[in-house]
Amino acid sequence: MSKETSNLKERILKKRNLPAHVAIIMDGNGRWAKKRGLPRIAGHKAGVKAVKRIVKAAGDLGISVLTLFTFSQENWKRPKSEVSAIMKLLYETTKRELNELDENNVKLITTGRIEELSLRRREILQKAMKRTKNNTGLILNLALNYGGRTEILDAVKEIASDVKRGRLNPEQLGEEKFSHYLYTKDLPDPDLLIRTSGEMRISNFLLWQTSYTELYITDILWPNFSTKHFYEAIWNYQNRERRFGRL
Ligand code: IPE
Ligand code: IPE
Ligand code: MG
Repeated sequence: MSKETSNLKERILKKRNLPAHVAIIMDGNGRWAKKRGLPRIAGHKAGVKAVKRIVKAAGDLGISVLTLFTFSQENWKRPKSEVSAIMKLLYETTKRELNELDENNVKLITTGRIEELSLRRREILQKAMKRTKNNTGLILNLALNYGGRTEILDAVKEIASDVKRGRLNPEQLGEEKFSHYLYTKDLPDPDLLIRTSGEMRISNFLLWQTSYTELYITDILWPNFSTKHFYEAIWNYQNRERRFGRL
């Protein structure tokens, strides 16, 4: 780590208002590959290296939750070959990195409809989650087969069914209660949302949870996103004023 980067890290740690939950839309793998005349999957492979770096950096800083948008519901609309290559990469990486994640006290969880993934794939994830479930360090949350509107609809369906069975009085449904029906019920809302590659959109990510999240959009392509870039985003967040509608 360069002197400049470690100075930045020190300043971040001194300032103390670390975001508890950082979410990232890891975008730009395809563009990274295209720039190099490589197939898109080479970009996804390079993206995995960035994931490793950022997981390490987030854990080192003492951030509680890191949510990574890994595969959206809409991403199924990509060519079949790309979808299977991404999935393969995901499972290979999970298998390969499991020991190290566990050694680093990382707890792996997922958000999204993982029940729709193939059994063999789901088992790899479930094994990793089981193995790391008692870890007390960084919670690494992979948003997988995730769509924000579907999440809200799934919550509404469960709420309707609870009302029908007399388990829930609609009069008592407030924001707090509603959020317990979401996939992310055990997590705080993200404090900071980073999106790489410059796109100014949410792409159906954590729609309910990001109502007061601070946004940080950078032109850096995800495979080029370094520890220093990550620190810059955190430092930028730490120097903002969050108002939540107040003065
Ligand atoms: C993000 O990179 C990875 C996934 C969506 C799985 P992209 O594949 O979207 O890269 P670009 O946007 O085409 O550059
Ligand atoms: C969002 O990126 C999804 C993930 C990072 C997994 P996309 O590349 O799919 O988003 P759009 O299509 O540009 O909105
Ligand atoms: Mg993209």
